[in-house]
Amino acid sequence: MKVSIIGAGNVGGLTALQLCSLSFVEVVLIDIVPNLAYAKALDISDARFIFKRNSRIQGADDINRIAGSNILVITAGLPRKPGMTREELGQKNGRIIKGICQEIKRLCPEAVVIVVTNPLDAMTYLVLKETGLPPSRILGMGLSLDATRLANLIAEELNVKVEEIEPCIIGSHGKGMLPLSRHTKVKGLPLEGQLDKEKINQLFERTVNRGAEIVSQLGSGSAYFAPSAAIAELVKVIAGDEKRILPVSVYLNGEYELRDLCIGLPCRLGKKGIEEVIELELNEEEKAAFLKSAE
Ligand code: NAI
Ligand code: 2OP
Repeated sequence: MKVSIIGAGNVGGLTALQLCSLSFVEVVLIDIVPNLAYAKALDISDARFIFKRNSRIQGADDINRIAGSNILVITAGLPRKPGMTREELGQKNGRIIKGICQEIKRLCPEAVVIVVTNPLDAMTYLVLKETGLPPSRILGMGLSLDATRLANLIAEELNVKVEEIEPCIIGSHGKGMLPLSRHTKVKGLPLEGQLDKEKINQLFERTVNRGAEIVSQLGSGSAYFAPSAAIAELVKVIAGDEKRILPVSVYLNGEYELRDLCIGLPCRLGKKGIEEVIELELNEEEKAAFLKSAE
């Protein structure tokens, strides 16, 4: 299983480290900055003995090394600065992504592509249009990060184990994300009813703003520890053909009465990429909020 990561910055580098702690992968790390990916790959490979894993990693600035990848992760591009929205990265990151798409078409047209670069839903759509690959093979990582953030906050609030929480978030990876209290479960029961509405709204607001909170405290760059864990989880589920349901940015063609856009929804994932978009039963209020997010 060959997994290539384009962009060896904070998120790409840490993703490579996490993937190398799994035994089944050959990882290729690419960056446009000379020697950066090469140096990070050397460093990561030195951890193999500690991990007791025989995964292999190479790093390079030559994008030709991604040829024949089964899974491709795109983490190239600028992170936001304090006070910026993810959307403000669109112009610059769009140009970077467009260039990369030409190489994907040429070098690994059979890959499942996981887009991470922000603004996430727009960049996922751009990759789809620029590569012309089937929509089922292009997905964006964003909402599974938001979901793990929500689960973390609920677990802290209710003092329960994270395994007892099933977070449910749909919508864009941005201000339009919609945590759903009827569909989020704690110990198998809806969150609604286990906390008062005001508390739930506070937790939801903290989830939506978590990325910005981290950006403002870091001072330079954005989150990378939980993001890289979320990417590694997607790679594992796809590579292992696990058929698990996780929220990702997906191209819609009529589902939820929406067409020709990418937005976050729970999807069944396997070795072919997105195998099913799950249609949640939404009430009128939830449907209206989702359509607004899509807009
Ligand atoms: P970073 O600045 O640490 O790394 C980005 C890397 O991309 C740099 O090393 C840069 O040289 C490289 N790069 C730029 N153009 C390239 C090209 N054409 N080919 C190869 N490499 C290229 O940034 P970080 O923190 O790793 O974030 C990367 C992106 O991921 C940002 O857009 C950020 O907003 C996004 N992000 C998205 C998340 C999500 O949940 N969807 C979570 C965290 C970050
Ligand atoms: C986040 O939510 C940067 O989009 C990324 O932290």
